[in-house]
Amino acid sequence: MARLKLKETLTKLKRVRIKLNIKKKQQIAIPPPPPKPIPRGFKVVEKYPLYEPFAHVAIVQYPKTGEYKYILDELQLDPLERSVYNRILEILLAEIESPKEEILDPRRFFAEEAKKIVDKYRISLGWLPDVSWYKILYHAERDLVGFGKIDPLMRDPNIEDISCDGVNKPVYVWHRNYESIETNLEFENDEELDNMAVKLVHMAGKHVSSAFPIVDASLLGKHRLAVCYRREVTPFGTAFTIRKFREDPYSIIDLINLGTFSEEMAAYFWLCLENRASIMVLGGTAAGKTTALNALACLIKPGSKIVTIEETAELNLPHENWVSLIARQSYGLGGSSVGEVTLFDLVKTSMRHRPDILVVGEVRGQEAYVLFQALATGHGGMCTMHAENLDSAVKRLTSKPMDISPAYIPLMNIVLSIQRVHLVKGAEKKAYRRVINVNEIADYEDYRCAFRWHPTKDVYIPAFDKSLMLSQISERIGASKKKLIEEIDRRKEILYWMRERNIRSYKDVAAIIAEYYARPKQIYEKVVAGEEVKAIAVSRNP
Ligand SMILES: Nc1ncnc2c1ncn2[C@@H]1O[C@H](COP(=O)(O)OP(=O)(O)OP(=O)(O)O)[C@@H](O)[C@H]1O
Ligand SMILES: [Mg+2]
Repeated sequence: MARLKLKETLTKLKRVRIKLNIKKKQQIAIPPPPPKPIPRGFKVVEKYPLYEPFAHVAIVQYPKTGEYKYILDELQLDPLERSVYNRILEILLAEIESPKEEILDPRRFFAEEAKKIVDKYRISLGWLPDVSWYKILYHAERDLVGFGKIDPLMRDPNIEDISCDGVNKPVYVWHRNYESIETNLEFENDEELDNMAVKLVHMAGKHVSSAFPIVDASLLGKHRLAVCYRREVTPFGTAFTIRKFREDPYSIIDLINLGTFSEEMAAYFWLCLENRASIMVLGGTAAGKTTALNALACLIKPGSKIVTIEETAELNLPHENWVSLIARQSYGLGGSSVGEVTLFDLVKTSMRHRPDILVVGEVRGQEAYVLFQALATGHGGMCTMHAENLDSAVKRLTSKPMDISPAYIPLMNIVLSIQRVHLVKGAEKKAYRRVINVNEIADYEDYRCAFRWHPTKDVYIPAFDKSLMLSQISERIGASKKKLIEEIDRRKEILYWMRERNIRSYKDVAAIIAEYYARPKQIYEKVVAGEEVKAIAVSRNP
C-alpha cells in the first residue's frame, strides 16, 4: 500500500522539471516522501526532516505500552533508477580523481565532481528525469562518501548513539528525547552488515578482519566507533556502536543551560582550575563524563600547556598550546602486542612534553598510576573514570591494575559524579544529566562535599564553609576565603552574562574566559554595566 503511494508520488515527481544543481538542493521543489507505514497500533508522536527532501523521521508510540519506535523514511530508487545508479557508481569510481590538495569537506568535493561526471554521461545512460538524477546522486553520495544505510541517522542531531547488535536485528538509537529506541532499519544478511562494518572501519583509516575482529576508531567528524567483526566474538554477527560527536561541542554555558552545572558550580571549578586543582569526573556509561571533562577543560587558563591522552579522539579544546595523544591498537598476531601504544605509554611519554595539565580521557588501568605520579610531581591533572560513586572509584583506584597507594588518593583534589536522572518537567518525564555531588578529597576516605544536588528541587546546594580547596587556594595566593567567594560570585555573573547574550559556542565562551583571565577588572566592570566585551583572544584551533 505504502509502496504504491510512494511510487505514485515519484511518478508525479518525475513529471516535474527540476534543474540538477547540487549547490541549491534546498530550493528544489521535491515534495517530501509519503510517510512510511506506521506499525499497527502505533501513533505518530513527532515528525521531522533529516535531509530535505530525501530523508525524514517519524517517532511513533504504542499507546498501551508507551513503547517508541524510530521510523526512518528515505526516498528509494525504483528499479530503473537502481540500474542507472549501479552503472554511474562504476563510472564515478573510475573517473573521480583524488583531490590534489587536502580537502576539508569530502562530501562537497564528491558532490561537485559527481555532478560534472553525471553531466558528461547522462545522455548516454538513457533519458531520466532530473528528479531521478537528483535521487541517484543522493544515493551515490550517501553510499560512497557518506555512512551508507545509516547516513540519515548520522544526520539526526537528536541521536547520541547508533548501535547494531547483529544480522536481522533492528538498529537501535539513543534519542535525546525518547532514550533507547528501535528503528525500522536492519541489516538483512551477513554480507551487507560485514561490508558496512568494513566501510566504517576503513573510513576511520583502520583495518578489521577475522584475525583482528575488535576495532575502536574515530570516524571523520570525531564520531567514536566500536566494531566486533563477523561471528568471531559476536555470535549474532557483526556488531557496531557509534557514539555521535557533536559538531558543536557542549560548552560550559550549554551545560548550565541544560541544568547539568549551576553557574556557581562552574565558577567554583573555574577558580579551582586556575589554581591547578586536579579534577576527576565519575559516572556510568554515557552519563556525560567526557562532555563535562571537555567543558571544564575549556576553563583552563589560555597559554597553559595541555596534553590530552585518549583511546579515541573525543576532546576538543580551544587552547593553542595543546598536544593530543591517541593510543594505538596492536597490529601483531596472536598474543603479540607489536606496534601497540597504550594509554600507559602515552601518559609516561607525556611527561616529556612538559605539560602544565595532563588530561586523560578515561582511566581504566595502569595509566592511572602514572597519572597520580604526575600529580605527585606538581602537574595538574584531569580525567574521567567509569564508576557510580566516589567510594567505588577509590576502591578501584587502590586495587589492581591501577594500584594507587591510598596516600596518593588526596592528590586528586575534586571529584564530581555525573548521572543520568529522570525528572518530570511540566507534563513530561525526561532524562537529564546532573552533577549529583562534588567532593573534595581531604584524605583517603575523608571527603568534603562542596556541592550537592537536591533531586526534588533540582538545584545545587553549595557548602563553601567546609571547602578545603578554598582554604588551600586562600593560603596559596594570600586571599581570604571571603575574597575567594566574592571572586566566585563575580565569575558567576560573567557566566550569567554569557547565557543572557547567548554566547554559548565553546570557542566564543573560551574567548570571553580568556579575556577575563587577561583583564578581570575591566571585563567585570563592562559586564556589570551591561556593555559589550570584544574578545580579542580568539583561539586559532580548528
Ligand atoms: N549534560 C548533558 N546534557 C545532555 N546531553 C549530554 C550531556 N552530557 C553529555 N550529553 C550527551 O550524552 C552522550 C554521551 O556523552 P559522553 O560521551 O560525554 O558520555 P560518557 O559518560 O563519556 O560516555 P562513555 O562512558 O561511553 O565514555 C553524548 O551524545 C552527549 O552529547
Ligand atoms: Mg567518555
